[in-house]
Amino acid sequence: MENFNWESLPFGYIKTDFNIRCIFKNGKWGKLEVSSSEYIDVHIAATGLHYGQEAFEGLKAYMGKDGKIRLFRWEENAKRFIASADGIKMAAFPIELFKDALIKVIQLNKKFIPPYGSGATLYIRPLLFGSGAEVGVKPASEYTFLVFVTPVGPYFKGGIKPVNMLICRDVDRAAPLGTGTFKIGGNYAASMRAIIAAHKGGYSNTIFLDAKEKKYVDECGPANFFGIKNNTYVTPKSESILNSITNMSLIEIAKSLGMNTERRQIPVEELSSFEETGACGTAAVIGPIAKIFDPDKNMIYEYCKDGEPGAISLKLYKKLISIQCGDEPDPFGWITIVE
Ligand SMILES: Cc1ncc(COP(=O)(O)O)c(C=O)c1O
Repeated sequence: MENFNWESLPFGYIKTDFNIRCIFKNGKWGKLEVSSSEYIDVHIAATGLHYGQEAFEGLKAYMGKDGKIRLFRWEENAKRFIASADGIKMAAFPIELFKDALIKVIQLNKKFIPPYGSGATLYIRPLLFGSGAEVGVKPASEYTFLVFVTPVGPYFKGGIKPVNMLICRDVDRAAPLGTGTFKIGGNYAASMRAIIAAHKGGYSNTIFLDAKEKKYVDECGPANFFGIKNNTYVTPKSESILNSITNMSLIEIAKSLGMNTERRQIPVEELSSFEETGACGTAAVIGPIAKIFDPDKNMIYEYCKDGEPGAISLKLYKKLISIQCGDEPDPFGWITIVE
């Protein structure tokens, strides 16, 4: 679109032209349907409204310098979407249909894909929920899938910047045998009290600890955590975190750059020995951490003392976004070109 200020776009919702929908009924998925409405007509007893039968995904399409539209690791989102559906007993959305829906929604909204170099991207939000009516607590027999897109601005306006985090011990996002590994709305609702408290205190987000012992780092709000020391990329192993596709990719990139990688429990005290720490996810790729405050222990862990992101975080970040935008070849086979 011409005359659009892409750089100053927020990470928020902007109306686009079309979304795609699909209904599961009588034990099978129907055909993909194109809609230009931003609204859905939902039954008052839908399980998605009452019992939290709802899952979603988040991925992006990137415009390359070569004018080609790139999708990043969509198969991983498709697989996670299926795992989330299964985790709360919803009908899973098939991988091939997921791919067709993504391609269709991108093609129909091509004019909203931000131009190369703007730092803005096209955010893609697939959603699945129980739309069948039930009053007892049981899975619905009808499900609605939809996917919409919205252009989003660069997460860090004016370049990647270190942020401050607050350790949270009085709210748990997810329990070890609960639903933390699934991308479902309930986990986000559970995290809101902590996130709002962190924002009120002037922090960018909250660091959740493991719910059982409160000894280990779990997640960074809606992102995974990583720490770097002695040429090693360390990220939490936990039964209650979402398996971030960005994190999986950073691990592969770190390995390819000759770094060691570890997925293991990270005791809170170990935060003092990291050279760099960060949050990672689709939205920002990497949010380098400047300071972590632990209010219960009255401890401050500091990184990025010069106000700049750490060298290794920056290297990983640049490598990943270069692959996503097509500035560098993709040796991992992560990119799908949308024709
Ligand atoms: C709770 C949570 N953890 C981690 C992530 C990062 O995952 P990904 O890299 O797949 O976007 C997200 C965002 O999707 C998230 O919501």
